[in-house]
Amino acid sequence: MTPGKKRRTEYVCQECGYRLPVWSGRCPGCSEWNTLVEELVTSAAPGGTGRPSSTAPAMVQPIADITPETAARLQTGLSELDRILGGGAFPGSVNLVGGEPGVGKSTLMLQLAGKLAASGTRVLYATGEESAGQIADRGRRLGVDETGLLVLAATSLPEIERSLETETPGVVIVDSIQTIYSPELSSAPGSVSQVRHCSGELMRYTKSRGLTTFLIGHVTREGSIAGPKVLEHLVDAVIYFEGDRKRSYRLLRAVKNRFGSTNELGVFEMTSSGLTGVAEASRFFLHGRSTSPDEPGDPGTAVAAIMEGTRPFLVEIQALVSSTRYGYPQRSVSGFDSKRLPLLLAVLEKRCGFELGNQDVYVNVAGGARTSDPGADLAVCLAVASSLFDKPVRPGVAVAAEVGLGGELRAVSHFEWRLREALNLGFAHLAGSGSDPEVREEEKHLGFEDLGTAVKSLLEKPGSGGNWA
Ligand code: TYD
Ligand code: MG
Repeated sequence: MTPGKKRRTEYVCQECGYRLPVWSGRCPGCSEWNTLVEELVTSAAPGGTGRPSSTAPAMVQPIADITPETAARLQTGLSELDRILGGGAFPGSVNLVGGEPGVGKSTLMLQLAGKLAASGTRVLYATGEESAGQIADRGRRLGVDETGLLVLAATSLPEIERSLETETPGVVIVDSIQTIYSPELSSAPGSVSQVRHCSGELMRYTKSRGLTTFLIGHVTREGSIAGPKVLEHLVDAVIYFEGDRKRSYRLLRAVKNRFGSTNELGVFEMTSSGLTGVAEASRFFLHGRSTSPDEPGDPGTAVAAIMEGTRPFLVEIQALVSSTRYGYPQRSVSGFDSKRLPLLLAVLEKRCGFELGNQDVYVNVAGGARTSDPGADLAVCLAVASSLFDKPVRPGVAVAAEVGLGGELRAVSHFEWRLREALNLGFAHLAGSGSDPEVREEEKHLGFEDLGTAVKSLLEKPGSGGNWA
């Protein structure tokens, strides 16, 4: 950025690209409301992206001649975070950490900063939300006091950039991007213009110096307007920190990652000494449910072995089926695809002959977990049938299969990994489709061709036709 001369700004419609010298509530171009956003006018041709043109001439090369970017990853020392980033942070990357206020973003980043500083990386923690004293106080409680961790209380972008120049850290954390402003724009901090401009500037700086940047961004329940959403396309990785503030665990998800896979899930527990990674996350989600073949769970519950990215998890699916008292039967679902539930209920009715048309059905993934894995289908159907007949599922069995519209069971990905996770947690069997790939311990696999047979077999004690309880 060139200090001194103030550059001109104009207002650009985010819908149609119309440009105005002054703000207006309505775009004269497309008549949309509230679409005008302040942007810096650059010397680039009108309609340009506002990026300064690079000095090196662009070069066309055959792909085979280009040296791939394979810099060594920066291990953060927090293994749950490293996995989400694809084995550590990529040098020269900008990573956005989003989440609701109070979820623990600052705590996680301070712990990360401490770990990195302890391993010899200089870290600059720029805080615009809290004072340096507040950060230090939190640091004391977390046991973070490395000299390589520098704290800067600042909200102005040039100030942060100046400190980056003088201190030359390897990693910079900006807490939060909504509090940072550039004096070149007249918009308030946190506005779309400021958030986008400041992130863009930091991005350019990061790329040119090989710095690794973490931007913290708040999201509100409604999906804040000037929040991380406007930055997602710009940054290299977007990780969201979520979880119920009333509960102690937090889930970290990668929703975008240019240097690794998405859908990875990290599990942390918030303790009095900060966030600790939870390696045995399944135990967490099962909430003390017994996995023993001698102790049946409650009727209306079934355990699904699902995949989140490259990681298998066990989650308890709960269903409540009760007669409809008035009006239309209710269908309500939390933690599972709401469009998929009616489909599965239709398969249960049509293919298995279960009467659900006069029943309210509620389905929930226990512990606030959520999944989009079709491998949870069988567990959902089983939990519904278990509640309908008031019979518990055969104890010691977890399930993983997709249910087809014909009532057939389909094989899921990574069956072996799911089975391993189930056995590790004490389950005796993992039930799935008849077409699951060969598993090493065949006796641990219960294969069923269709939903009807699976439900019947898993709800009734063989030979007795009775309850497990
Ligand atoms: P914080 O990191 O400030 O959240 P964010 O930056 O996302 O707004 O964390 C907020 C909560 O974490 C706060 O309510 C207190 C709790 N907390 C702990 O339970 N243990 C701890 O060691 C720390 C530092 C915070
Ligand atoms: Mg914070």
